[in-house]
Amino acid sequence: MATSRGEFSSRIGFILAAAGSAVGLGNIWGFPTQTASNGGAAFVLVYLVLAFCLAYPAFMAELLIGRYGQANAVTSLQKMSKNALQKNFAFIVGFGGIICAALILSFYGIIAGWMMSYSLEPILSVIGMADQAQWVIGQSFYANLLFTTAFMFSTIFIIRKGVENGIEKWSKRLMPLMICLLIGLTIYVMTLDGAMKGLGVYLNPDISRVLEPNLLVSALGQAFFSLSLGTSVMVIYGSYISKKENLVTLGAQVTLIDVSIAFLAGLLIIPAMYVAQAQGVAIFAADGSLISGPSMVFTVLPTLFDSMGSIGLFVAFAFFVLMSIAALTSSISMLEGPVSYAVERHNVERKKATTITGIVILLMSFVIISNLSFMLDFVASLATQYGQPIIAMLCCVFVGWIWNRNDILTEIKQGNNDVESSLFWKVWPWYTKFVCPLAIAMVFIHSL
Ligand code: PFF
Repeated sequence: MATSRGEFSSRIGFILAAAGSAVGLGNIWGFPTQTASNGGAAFVLVYLVLAFCLAYPAFMAELLIGRYGQANAVTSLQKMSKNALQKNFAFIVGFGGIICAALILSFYGIIAGWMMSYSLEPILSVIGMADQAQWVIGQSFYANLLFTTAFMFSTIFIIRKGVENGIEKWSKRLMPLMICLLIGLTIYVMTLDGAMKGLGVYLNPDISRVLEPNLLVSALGQAFFSLSLGTSVMVIYGSYISKKENLVTLGAQVTLIDVSIAFLAGLLIIPAMYVAQAQGVAIFAADGSLISGPSMVFTVLPTLFDSMGSIGLFVAFAFFVLMSIAALTSSISMLEGPVSYAVERHNVERKKATTITGIVILLMSFVIISNLSFMLDFVASLATQYGQPIIAMLCCVFVGWIWNRNDILTEIKQGNNDVESSLFWKVWPWYTKFVCPLAIAMVFIHSL
């Protein structure tokens, strides 16, 4: 039997939950990695522009769809549809987003499992269990199964509790902790030799690179992944916001938090790499580019922590706990998409829907683990390079071309009576109708 719908109990609850979804491995790992492999500050500059000019308007489209529909992504989009054809289109877009969220969770859970294993390793080392410490970070088949399962069950545990007692309560606990850890670690790294050189690389843009096609595509992909777009997640989070809240401001605040944390993570990671270099660690690949991706997080940084002596164990622990928390507040949002669909459309009881959906996604992770080198990249690019931009673009098409204009304006006005004099009111409707779908399509076609 379906239970009554949940709702965020407070504004800050929504902000932390939506920012919790947005801020994840994409910010703390993905953004610095992309910055490192795309020439430093030029990438940062392009990312900031695209995040505010394209990702934020698309993010608002998804939040507004959800709050108008007061339901999961499929039902919300169907509420705006006027005929059978549009309803089918709504199903494809809404359900496509839900599948996309499930696919992302299936590989995200594996990487998050690695983060958990790396946070356990310093504890095992301190208590003298050196062999076990090596086993947990070995990323062997069984270690991967174990940590992915542990991570997925933590996600299931929170989502079973619902919106207010699960998502909101845990986001309120975990997000401040994560931000404190991030700031603390950044300040510490800044005091070490080599950090200032890294800071220069991070903050001085090479303007000649900003129009490089690869840089543009990577920056847009990163901005969409970071705001969790094209996955039904922001539609469902939008549906849990009260009609009394000013959505335009809330959306802007979440975008600002997301972008700031990515920027802060870059302030930690890029200087940390140059600190590692000052301590004799190789930070450039054979082709002269900065090491990025898994080798950056699992080789360069641990070598840096090792070289710090006993304090390094604490720093390593804090860093990987930070990564695990960031991953958890994102993974709960990914699971909420499919769960809310099962609860609202198929009348499945929430706890049962959560456990079953979580286990099905875990089985998908096991399939990936069985052929990790091929499947991880395959599923990640399928969901993030193709799925997310296409679905996000279709959401903008829905808002611009199918949703009744008066209904859109009424929805924007809810909780925001003065909006008619704002730039958002004047620009956003046509911007979402023409500019967003076209720009996303252009970048997408270019990436093919
Ligand atoms: N925004 C998350 C991150 O930056 O790590 C990733 C993410 C969360 C993607 C939720 C998609 C999603 F539905």
